Amino acid sequence: MTNNGRAASKTSAVSNNGASANGARKSAARAAANDRPRPHYARFAHIVGWGMAVPERVLSNHEIARLVDTNDEWIVARTGIKERRIAEGKETTTTLSIESAQNALEMADISPEEVDLIIVATATPEYSFPSTASLVQDAIGAERAAAFDLSAACTGFIAALGTAAESVRCGSANIALVIGAETLTKVTDWEDRGTCILFGDGAGAVVVQGSDVPGGIMSYLLRSDGSGGNLLTLPSVGATRPGGVAGLLDHTIDMNGREVFRFATRAMASITREAVAMAGLSMENIDLIIPHQANRRIIEAAARGLEMPDEKFYMNVDRYGNTSAASIPIALCEAVEEGRVRPNDRLVFVGFGGGLTWGAIAVHWDVTPPEVSRWHRLGRQVRYGLSRARSVGRRVLRRVEGAVFGMQAPEVEPPHRGKK
Ligand code: UT7
Repeated sequence: MTNNGRAASKTSAVSNNGASANGARKSAARAAANDRPRPHYARFAHIVGWGMAVPERVLSNHEIARLVDTNDEWIVARTGIKERRIAEGKETTTTLSIESAQNALEMADISPEEVDLIIVATATPEYSFPSTASLVQDAIGAERAAAFDLSAACTGFIAALGTAAESVRCGSANIALVIGAETLTKVTDWEDRGTCILFGDGAGAVVVQGSDVPGGIMSYLLRSDGSGGNLLTLPSVGATRPGGVAGLLDHTIDMNGREVFRFATRAMASITREAVAMAGLSMENIDLIIPHQANRRIIEAAARGLEMPDEKFYMNVDRYGNTSAASIPIALCEAVEEGRVRPNDRLVFVGFGGGLTWGAIAVHWDVTPPEVSRWHRLGRQVRYGLSRARSVGRRVLRRVEGAVFGMQAPEVEPPHRGKK
C-alpha cells in the first residue's frame, strides 16, 4: 500500500500536472481502502428492534410561507419536503428519545434491564451534561447500561450504530440501544429562508443484539473533512459569542446550501460503494438504500451516481423534512412498516452532514420480530412507571443523606470568574 502511494506521488512529480496528481492520490487512497483487511469478530451484531417518535404538531410549507419569502411550489420542487414535525411544550430531544427507545425495546421484546449500552446521536441535546443517553437510561430503568451522547451531526446515527455494533461484536456489550434524536426547529433561524424550510424534529431507535449467527451489520465506514466545517454550523456553549449564556439563545443553524449539496451527492455515492464492497457484496446485491433524508434531489443525484433506480432508495423527506441524526432510523421504521424491507434483504444506511462527516453501514436484514403478548406490553409499562418512581426515590434519598450527614458540596469559586 505504501509502495502504491509512493509510485503515485512520483508519477505526479514527473508529469508536473495538478489534475493527474490529484487523480493518482485518489486512486492510491482507493486502493488503500480496498486493501483494508476485513474485520473478523467472534460475534455478530443484529438489529432486532426498531421504533420512532415524532411530535404531534405538523408544520406545512404554507405556514412557513407566512414567515419568510418562499412558497410551497419552490420548497417541494427544490427539496421534496411538504411538511415537517415540530416539538412543542414539553416535547424535547429527551422525551422523543425515551419514546422511540421504548417502542424499539417493545418490538424486540427486550427488557431495559438487559440493555448494556445506550448511545444517543444528537446535535440538539437539552444539556451538554447530563447526556441525553443518561436521561434515557434513568427514565427507562436500564440499570446496568453505559450511556453517552455522540455528536456527528446528520451522520450521527451511522456513527452511533457503527460504534454500538463494534461494542457488541467485540463482546463489551450484548444488547445496545442506539437512538438518533433531534429538535432542530429549536435552533432554526425562522428568518432565513435558506434553512428554515428544511429542518424537522423526531427520534428513531434500534436495538442491536449480539449473536453467533452470521449476518446483521456487515460493514461500517465513517469519514470526516473538517476543512468544510464552516459550511454547516451550529455554535454551542463553548463558542465565543457576545451576550454570554444569554447569547446562546441566539445560536442557530447556518449553512452554505449549495456547497453542502455538492459535497453530499459525491460523498453518498462513494461511501455507499465502499461499504458494500467492504461487506463483500456488489451493488446488484443491494435491495434497498436508506439514506439520510435531507433533500429529494440529493438522493436522486446519488442514485444517478450509483447507476441505481430511484425506487431502490427509501424516501420520506416529504413528511418529516431533515431530522438530522433521526432521519435514518425514522426512515427505517417506516420502510419496514410499508413492507419495503423484507427478511433476507441487503440494506445500506448512508448519511452525511456537518463536520463535514459522512458514513455508511451495510446490513443483512435477517430478523423477524417476536410476537409480543398484551400482558408482556402491560408488564413493561408498569416497569417504566416503577423506574420513574425509583428515580424520584433516589433523588430524595440523596437529599436526605446530604442533610443528615452534612455531605453538601463545598462552595467553590468557578475558575473563570478570576480573582477579585
Ligand atoms: O443534512 C445536511 C444538511 N443540509 C443539506 O443537505 C442541504 C443541502 N442543500 C440543499 O438542500 C439546497 O442547496 C437548498 C434546498 C438549501 C437550496 O436549494 P438550491 O437549489 O441549492 O438553491 P440555491 O441556494 O442555489 O438558490 C437558488 C435561488 C436563489 O435565488 P437567486 O440568487 O437565484 O435569485 C435563492 O435566493 O433560490 C432562492 N431561494 C429561495 N427561494 C424561495 C433560496 N431559498 C429559497 C426559498 N424560497 N426557501
